[in-house]
Amino acid sequence: MKQFTQLADVPNPSALIDKAQYFKANPLAANDFAKGKTAVLLFFNPSLRTRLSTEKAALQLGFSVMTMNAAQGWKLEFEDQIVMNSDKAEHIREAAQVISQYADVIGIRTFPSLTDKDKDYSDYILQRFVEFSSVPIVSLESAIRHPLQSLADCLTIKEHQTKSKPKVVLTWAPHPKALPQAVANSFAEWMSIMDVDLTITHPEGYELAPTFQQHFPVEYHQQKAFEGADFIYAKNWSSFQNYGKILEVKNNWTITAEKMALTNQAKFMHCLPVRRNVVVADEVLDSPQSLVIEQANNRTFAAQAVLHELLNH
Ligand code: CP
Repeated sequence: MKQFTQLADVPNPSALIDKAQYFKANPLAANDFAKGKTAVLLFFNPSLRTRLSTEKAALQLGFSVMTMNAAQGWKLEFEDQIVMNSDKAEHIREAAQVISQYADVIGIRTFPSLTDKDKDYSDYILQRFVEFSSVPIVSLESAIRHPLQSLADCLTIKEHQTKSKPKVVLTWAPHPKALPQAVANSFAEWMSIMDVDLTITHPEGYELAPTFQQHFPVEYHQQKAFEGADFIYAKNWSSFQNYGKILEVKNNWTITAEKMALTNQAKFMHCLPVRRNVVVADEVLDSPQSLVIEQANNRTFAAQAVLHELLNH
């Protein structure tokens, strides 16, 4: 594996999920693996889970870790053939090459603008780092994907499924802010390699980009989608069609115990952070059906598997 930015980068996704599961059982099995090597993590946007779990994963493999909050103070120019007389003091062409002198692997977190669909969906900032870095790049969530989250989610489903081909429902949920589509996109992308029956439910106007929607069925009636589900994966996302906008929604899409009662005692999943009693009711989040802390825990082992795979040659 040369980089980890999307599912297509992974030659054998099932083996990578198995590797994450192995590291969960044996977190220090390769604690000398990356001795003398350095992981540099650049965060252009805030993070709790991704930052701490990726740092922990790297430390458990023996990496030294340098994390930079790149959002504040460091204004990077990504455009070519530009006269750099604005407030952006450094160009991606030098910056990526310079960081590559100090790093054996570089992690990047960058969110979308939610205003320029074409640029966001070209995954512009992440791809500029891929273009100019000379070491492997790991997406710590990009404009359109969150593959480390999805890998952890695959592991969580694998651990908790009680039958083959469980029914998994990806459900839109309300949120006061316009959020990226990255988690939902990535979840759908990775479900394509899992032996699951995925249904996507959301209000009209919240269809995912066709690349991520793929062949998966859409059910616009949330309660109907929940019937017989084994896993409910909740997430808000802003509109792709009416790009980055929050649309008017008539019905209540918050996940409640009443709706969960329609399922096959489904497990509840969410990538976190989550807005209580907006996205999901306390009664669901605090119930034994909730896997959200397990998902967060699995982030470490997903990252450990990816870092190990990238440098294992
Ligand atoms: N789920 C997730 O990526 O959380 P953070 O934004 O805290 O990293």
